[in-house]
Amino acid sequence: MANDRLDIVIFGATGYTGKYLVKYAVDFYKEQKMKFGVAGRRKEALEAVIKEFASDIEDVPIILADIKDEESLTKMAKQAKVVINCCGPYRFYGEPVVKACIAAHTHYIDVSGEPQYIERMQLEYNKAAQEAGVYIVSACGFDSIPADLGIIFTQQKFGGEINSIETYLKVWTVGNVKGSVLNYGTWESAVYGLAHENELRELRTKLYPTKLPKFTPKLKSKILHKSDVSEGWSTIFMGSDRSIALRTQRFLYEKYKERPAQVQTYITFESLFSFIMVATIGMIFFLMTRTAFGRNLLLKYPALFSCGFVSHESPKLETQEQSRFSITFKALGWTEKLAEPTDKHTDPPNKKVITKVSSAFGGYDVTSIASILSAITILKETDKIPDNGGVLTSGAAFCKTSLIEQLNKHNIIFEVISSIEK
Ligand SMILES: NC(=O)c1ccc[n+]([C@@H]2O[C@H](COP(=O)([O-])OP(=O)(O)OC[C@H]3O[C@@H](n4cnc5c(N)ncnc54)[C@H](OP(=O)(O)O)[C@@H]3O)[C@@H](O)[C@H]2O)c1
Repeated sequence: MANDRLDIVIFGATGYTGKYLVKYAVDFYKEQKMKFGVAGRRKEALEAVIKEFASDIEDVPIILADIKDEESLTKMAKQAKVVINCCGPYRFYGEPVVKACIAAHTHYIDVSGEPQYIERMQLEYNKAAQEAGVYIVSACGFDSIPADLGIIFTQQKFGGEINSIETYLKVWTVGNVKGSVLNYGTWESAVYGLAHENELRELRTKLYPTKLPKFTPKLKSKILHKSDVSEGWSTIFMGSDRSIALRTQRFLYEKYKERPAQVQTYITFESLFSFIMVATIGMIFFLMTRTAFGRNLLLKYPALFSCGFVSHESPKLETQEQSRFSITFKALGWTEKLAEPTDKHTDPPNKKVITKVSSAFGGYDVTSIASILSAITILKETDKIPDNGGVLTSGAAFCKTSLIEQLNKHNIIFEVISSIEK
């Protein structure tokens, strides 16, 4: 890779998430001399982003590129060591950028939370990415770095062998929040993602023709419950965390012969009332994504169908400053690690470790920090990432790097809460 390339190009820098990344890229430029450029289809809008967020640093190149113009994408990719793609829904905008990066021998990061897109990229581009010697790593934002690397962190700290990990996500805001919380781009991605979730089964059969061996005791899913590690009412979390984590676990099993943890992801609500509210909205949302008419209504009136959580107006910066999250991990397993991952323990699990990933930052800050640090890790620790290229999950790509340590240094905190042996 030519040395005169920019370290990172942020594509989609005019979007809500893209602007956040530019804001943080300036910090990383100052901290680590990481040279970056901004890319998108509208020159004036890109100039305005630089004026707003990067006016105090010199020489942030602007690169014009349009998803609909393949040549412009390849030209953009040739100017970067890593492209961070912030253009979504990825179902529509992701693939041309992945293709351009492979053609230009440029690493690729995105912040997608869309399993169909992510898994299709693995199915169709893994070999090409390996041949080109580039890494394609999706879901390097709030989805699903805290969950996927949180599980890796728990495995590293467990000391023994894990049978199952249950994750409990909590999101909340401090103070009075005015206006929307989530940007329209994420809403749009969720509408199309859910509408096409039935594609996943066929995709997975092609991606993983061989089933994993059965591991016991089998982890049972709980629809609605009170957990001993997360105060409130918890239910299954429908985001992309579980699909990413399970792919990571399979990768570790196939690559390093490590016993894969069985994973279930939950989200916790403070009260039964808030659970019922969200479940009702979620059910209406799900049913409406089934038809083109329903999808159009969701896209046209986001505020109505999300009770003001999303609107056509972007959330205010202060709203993000008021947002918080934590994920608590409950790992059960054994103090003893057996010789082979498929060897069966004769006793029931005798060890429980609780860990946590949390931050005083909101989702968009976490997305920016995590994706930029992922890109920097690819550049600085290529030798610790497996397979000399390929389409990987964050856990597969970064499990042997210092990314967790770097995230900790940047206030996304990974910690062990307790460790109990029977
Ligand atoms: N999972 C997570 O943790 C997480 C967190 C944050 C965001 N996201 C995802 O990130 C994606 C972006 O979200 P957002 O809220 O930032 O959306 P957004 O504000 O709508 O931004 C979309 C970006 O895509 C660009 N774009 C659209 N069509 C293009 C084209 N033909 N050529 C070049 N650029 C084009 C837009 O450029 P213009 O300004 O020129 O229109 C804009 O920069 C979504 O899929 C969202 O789900 C995920």
